[in-house]
Amino acid sequence: MTVSETEEELGLPEYQLAYEVTDLEGNQLLPAGTQLTRQVMQDLAMREPGTIKSCRLLDSRQIQDDLLGYLSVSPYDVITRHDPQHAALLELAGQVQVPETILNSFFRFRETDIYTYRHVLLVFALSILIARELIGEKEKLLQEVIAGPTHDIGKLCIPRAIISKKTPLSKAEHEYLKHHALAGYVLLTYYFRDPEILAARVARDHHERKDGSGYPAGRYVDDLLIDIVMIADIYDALISSRPYRPISYDNRSALEELIDQAQRGTINETVVRVLVALNRRSKPHYQNCVISAERRGKEPSGNVYGVTKEGS
Ligand SMILES: [Fe+2]
Ligand SMILES: [Fe+2]
Repeated sequence: MTVSETEEELGLPEYQLAYEVTDLEGNQLLPAGTQLTRQVMQDLAMREPGTIKSCRLLDSRQIQDDLLGYLSVSPYDVITRHDPQHAALLELAGQVQVPETILNSFFRFRETDIYTYRHVLLVFALSILIARELIGEKEKLLQEVIAGPTHDIGKLCIPRAIISKKTPLSKAEHEYLKHHALAGYVLLTYYFRDPEILAARVARDHHERKDGSGYPAGRYVDDLLIDIVMIADIYDALISSRPYRPISYDNRSALEELIDQAQRGTINETVVRVLVALNRRSKPHYQNCVISAERRGKEPSGNVYGVTKEGS
């Protein structure tokens, strides 16, 4: 069952904006308190007349060079080892077209939030590599590719003071940070002018978990395309530092954490298996890749992944 079928049958969950959403120029798109009904999303998609000016993401030399630079660093160098020139990856990534304003958002991240900039490019690349193993149909694969790089665009609606804070976030700040999921849903629906665009659903649902422990709705989402971005997202978040979390997981501990989460039923186990296989130097097929829940890595001491100042 796809997400859209679920939504068709059950209706949209009650999404309500806790904070306002502004466009990338700072103009209000929707005020705090707005209920994101089907009609509201439809009106938002139709708000601007005319056609969208789209551009290819990787036509920007800067973005392509940055992506290749990030991929040359461990563990991404091992993950992409089967394709050292990145030819297959660049072939698919190069087909991604985004509205011009979305392209500009990448440059905004590059200037103001280099952590998120690096993160979205790596989640983009990793999602493509995982999707290639799991999705045969070219059309679906391209949909997935388009959705990867924009999943965190809603972070542009989060105050700089929270995004660049160098100490653990307070509970209130953590709540504000969660707003990026619905903010991204709104922004992408508006800029792509399409209330059904997969990229917007990925932005909205990439923090949901299969046991209902995620956000924004705390609901079970059964969609492989979303699962792929979700797992690429958790993995890169674990192994990367942030201003408020300078210590990250080593690669082995991060993979063990993901295996653990999959075995507890919160994320898709097949997608985790593909990620583990990509990390093996021998590059086994994911179906033959033995994964073990045994913890052999060492989680970083003082790690504050997902922890708020008051503890949560
Ligand atoms: Fe996110
Ligand atoms: Fe993310």
